[in-house]
Parts: sequence; structure tokens; C-alpha cells
Amino acid sequence: MRRPILTANWKMHKTRAQAAAFVTVLREQLGHTTEVDVVIAAPFTSLAAVHEGLLGSEIALAAQNVCAEAEGAFTGEISPAMLADAGCHYCIVGHSERRALYGEQDAEISRKAAALLGVGIRPIVCVGETLEEREADRTADIVASQLAGSLTDVETAAIGELVVAYEPVWAIGTGHTATPEQAQEVHLLIRARLRERFGASGADIRIQYGGSVKPENVVAIMAQPDIDGALVGGASLAPDSFAKIVRYESQENRAT
Ligand code: 13P
Repeated sequence: MRRPILTANWKMHKTRAQAAAFVTVLREQLGHTTEVDVVIAAPFTSLAAVHEGLLGSEIALAAQNVCAEAEGAFTGEISPAMLADAGCHYCIVGHSERRALYGEQDAEISRKAAALLGVGIRPIVCVGETLEEREADRTADIVASQLAGSLTDVETAAIGELVVAYEPVWAIGTGHTATPEQAQEVHLLIRARLRERFGASGADIRIQYGGSVKPENVVAIMAQPDIDGALVGGASLAPDSFAKIVRYESQENRAT
């Protein structure tokens, strides 16, 4: 059984005070949510504030990037052990913004994922095609190739800790969500590739969808059989909006 996982990706937003205020309100709104995993991916500078705000709750802390190296002369980088020390249980790797804007390649993303697993942090490995690639009918090839390349160093024994996120680049921050059917089609393909790569237990890996998820569309997205969660950017910045997404199963949300 794959437990749903709803992740807020704040990207480069929020000061420490803003992050702390968000956590206070979110906790008030969610109470003790135990039916789904809730994760907040904060900028490095807010990790401590969010960690402190989350003490005693089941909400998990995530980082948005990591260095694949353990330590050394890597100015400006943050190691997996440092993230573990900061209280992170998850870390996003290979987000399309890092691939497109900072030139991250599959091989490096794979090393980051393995390094995170080595310190007990769950990687959220992102894949997704651009609009150009989709229009050229290359979605399946691109996603399969990113997935294979980004998981090369991940050992089968560790896959219980792995999360994959499908984020079509054309749906990120654009308001153009993939239809639930479009997303399901790619999730099914990812699921098949994970089984090929890791054997039958590959079917247990959770796959999140990301790209303009909001309270109004999360119910339909989560209803798809191979969508196990959402990775939320813009709609995760306000606690009430993210709380609605987390409570997607509630009647109140279905009615919106
Ligand atoms: P939006 O929800 O703002 O489209 O961002 C999606 C995303 O990139 C999450 O990682």
C-alpha cells in the first residue's frame, strides 16, 4: 500500500519569520493528520526555523537540493549529512529548475540520490518533459531516460525510501495542469520502468505529480491509480491553500 505524500516546495520563498508563521498556521489547520505524509521543502536558510516549528508534529522537513559529496572544498554547497543534522527526512533532487537553470545532469542527480539514501534521507527524484518534447511525441523517451539516468546509483535495497516526482515542465508555474489522464499515462509508464529496474517491489515506490496542483484540482489528480501524491509549488506558499491540498479527501475540499 502506497501512503499518499503531499509535499510543499517553497522554492526560493520565505524568510525565517515567514516560514515559522506558515508552520504555526498549517499545524493549527491540520491538527494531527496521520492519513497522508506531509512534507515541507524549505530553503536552506529556513530549515532550522521550520524544523523547530515542526517539533512534535508528523510533518516532515525537506531540503530542495544537496551536494553529492560528503565534505570538502565545495564552497557554497551543503552535504547530505548536514541536511540530516538539520532535521531533514526528505530532499528534492533534479528539479526541472535545477536541470534547466543550473545545468544539472542525470548522472549528478543519481549520485545525489544515492548520497542522500546513505545518510537516511529520502530523495524525491524529479523527472519531466518540456512542451517542445511533448509536442514532438518524445515524452515517454525523455521521462524513461531521465528516470534511468537519475537512478543509476540507487540500490534496490534502498527503494523503500525513494520517491519519484513527475513534473511536466510545461505545467510548472504556468497554471496549465496536465489533465489527470495525461499525468496518469506518464505515471503508469514510470511505474513500469521502476518495475523493470528494481523488480516487483518497484511497484511500491511512490510517484508524486507536480505542476500547478491546487485545491481545485488535487482531488481529480489524486484519484488516478498511479498518482500517489503531489509536489506543490505556488499553491503551497499559503498555509490555508496547502492545508486544503493535504486534506484533499475531506468533503469540504471535494465540494470546492
Ligand atoms: P507549481 O505548483 O507552482 O506549478 O510548481 C510545481 C513545482 O515545480 C513543484 O516542485
